[in-house]
Amino acid sequence: MTTTLADTWGLHESQFWLRGKQPEQRVEFAAELGMWNVYGHPEIEAILRDPGTFSSDTTRLVPKDLIPDGQDMTTGSILQLDPPLHNKMRKLVSRAFTPKVVADLEPRIAAITRELLDAIPPGDRLELVAGLAYPLPVIVIAELLGVPAADRHLFKGWVDKMFDSSDQVSLVKKDEQQDAAIRKSLAGQKALTDYLGGHVDERRKQPRDDLLTKLVEAELDGERLSRSEVVDFANVLLLAGHITTTMLLGNAVLCLDAHPEWDRRVRADRSLVPPAIEESLRYLTPFAAVARTTVREAEVGGVTVPADQMLLLWVAAANRDERVFRDPGTFDPLRAENPHLAFGRGIHFCIGAPLARLEGRVALDILFDRYPVLRAIPGEPPKFQPNPNMTGVRELPLTTA
Ligand code: HEM
Repeated sequence: MTTTLADTWGLHESQFWLRGKQPEQRVEFAAELGMWNVYGHPEIEAILRDPGTFSSDTTRLVPKDLIPDGQDMTTGSILQLDPPLHNKMRKLVSRAFTPKVVADLEPRIAAITRELLDAIPPGDRLELVAGLAYPLPVIVIAELLGVPAADRHLFKGWVDKMFDSSDQVSLVKKDEQQDAAIRKSLAGQKALTDYLGGHVDERRKQPRDDLLTKLVEAELDGERLSRSEVVDFANVLLLAGHITTTMLLGNAVLCLDAHPEWDRRVRADRSLVPPAIEESLRYLTPFAAVARTTVREAEVGGVTVPADQMLLLWVAAANRDERVFRDPGTFDPLRAENPHLAFGRGIHFCIGAPLARLEGRVALDILFDRYPVLRAIPGEPPKFQPNPNMTGVRELPLTTA
């Protein structure tokens, strides 16, 4: 049996798909969590394409007594809306967050990448996450929204609070540890929401040339987004702009490190950078799972799931489904087809995918130009996100010699 990248670097034990294994069952009820796990690609795709049966409003199923201090769990974000409200919201935000807005960022992304790399002390070491993969997407999204990029140490503190837990939140277990994790996460969320609320209020009084103003002013059939809708959307953008692209960049470098023949080929032929990014998204999927709830009894892969059940859709496992991907454990940027689910599917398909792809391409290109060698260091393993719903580096020491 070959050693997988997950074994080499000690990735989360529960992520069996990273260790060359297919699931024993593609749909199973996890009694200890009170939720269903779905691991198969066609099953997940069918669920994501049927929002009428599988709702994104997951908060409705979280028992009230599970939330400490009677706080409100709902974020009200676009991610949790169902049709018809979702269609309206998505159309409105798409008016502000357009393909042109993203494409126009390319020179600025390149400039920020160069500035960040210039600031790294000379020598033959580079910690990729602190040096580039974390600050780049945060600065880009902060500038785009129009909030000061210099406040990024504040965002980092709040976002870390939100994602620091290494436990899976359970719908049945209630203990001190879970309480503390939820409390910490809600405190981070509240701080971020208050911060963004202040900026939205300013834009309402004094418009500027930024995305927050565009969101405040976006109109559909005479309707605008409410204050809390703008805040919630900005919240999602800032969050998504943080950890996901950081993981994408780090994971892509880690995949190429583990596959030196591809590292050579991609460096020699830069047209291979985009397919290498797509294959990294399949191979090490940053958001390993997305959640849905059944609004009625439903059939999933031949299994009957009752109404009002929470489902965790393990897109990361689906991206290794041998019924869809030939040799799923092989890293192959030139595989004939790559219908990975890393950005989701259907009506909630990631709005930020073009931005994430652009940042990945620009940053990798510049990294390859600057550093003829980028290798992980055997005695200094990368550190990964502690949460099992995520797969991504949070620290990646590299040698450039
Ligand atoms: C590699 C980077 C990224 C990954 C892997 C990723 C992944 C995802 C996934 C899986 C979804 C669907 C969630 C669901 O169906 O419940 C999603 C939705 C979304 N993503 Fe991303 N994302 C990334 C980057 C970004 C960036 C950079 C932004 C914004 C700047 C962003 C903004 C959003 C938004 C707003 C949604 C919600 C869309 C909707 O509900 O209609 N994402 N993302």
